[in-house]
Amino acid sequence: MQIYKTIAETREALAGEALKNKIGFVPTMGALHKGHLSLVERCHSESDLTVVSIYVNPTQFGPQEDLNHYPRNLEKDIDLLRNYHVDIVFTPDDVQMYPEGYCTWVQVEGLSDILCGASRPGHFRGVATIVLKLMHIVNPKLMFMGMKDYQQIIVLEKMIEDLNLETKIVRCPIVREPDGLAMSSRNSYLTPDERQRATCLIKALKNAQKMVNEGHLDSSILISEAENIIKQSDGRIDYIKIVDGSTLQELPEVRSGSRMMLAVYIGNTRLIDNIELLP
Ligand code: PAF
Repeated sequence: MQIYKTIAETREALAGEALKNKIGFVPTMGALHKGHLSLVERCHSESDLTVVSIYVNPTQFGPQEDLNHYPRNLEKDIDLLRNYHVDIVFTPDDVQMYPEGYCTWVQVEGLSDILCGASRPGHFRGVATIVLKLMHIVNPKLMFMGMKDYQQIIVLEKMIEDLNLETKIVRCPIVREPDGLAMSSRNSYLTPDERQRATCLIKALKNAQKMVNEGHLDSSILISEAENIIKQSDGRIDYIKIVDGSTLQELPEVRSGSRMMLAVYIGNTRLIDNIELLP
């Protein structure tokens, strides 16, 4: 496993590889957990070369958000990755990615302004910009991303389509704790009491899925039941929406491909999750 801190070294190591080998890429912000590691395993099984990036991208955090507190442990992350079949780890710093005078941004309009984008203005501009930059450095055929960040995948797929890029995103299933909480680096912020209450997200989603299976398709009823479950655990709702799984447009009634998407604060920690309501 080679570890590179600079764009130049990474480019040199990968020079010509995209022509001979299928490069698979897992972009991360570190603080690796089993969710990330499942992406790395999947990447290895479907690619000839596995590249992982670890970079906490400052431009996807708002001014009041947790950039300064975001968990960072590069050495531990690298040790973990040594147990997997990783060929290259790219760990740039801010000077590499955003040198002085940097002023170019990628904006996927519309999709970036709804759901998480409505509460986190500029978030998806930062995500699209850094992912495009990383893609240009790594040149992957496949990019492996977890469906917990479902909107992120939809935004990036639109960017790929609109900019005629050749990378395909492989959507990977959400990895959950035994009690159903979606794995996330931000779970480490939760106190023991909050950690217990955080299971209300998956309870609300599963309840909605069960109601749909029983024939309840009215979005407003499903959303209000989900709200009740979240409020019973003292969760503060950012949003709960039922959307079309491809366009993310809100739907008054559940139909094939609909998803329930939610963002909820448990204490000061903002958690997201989602589920397909009808295949
Ligand atoms: O999902 C993440 O961890 C980040 O948004 C990503 C894709 C690595 C970009 O910084």
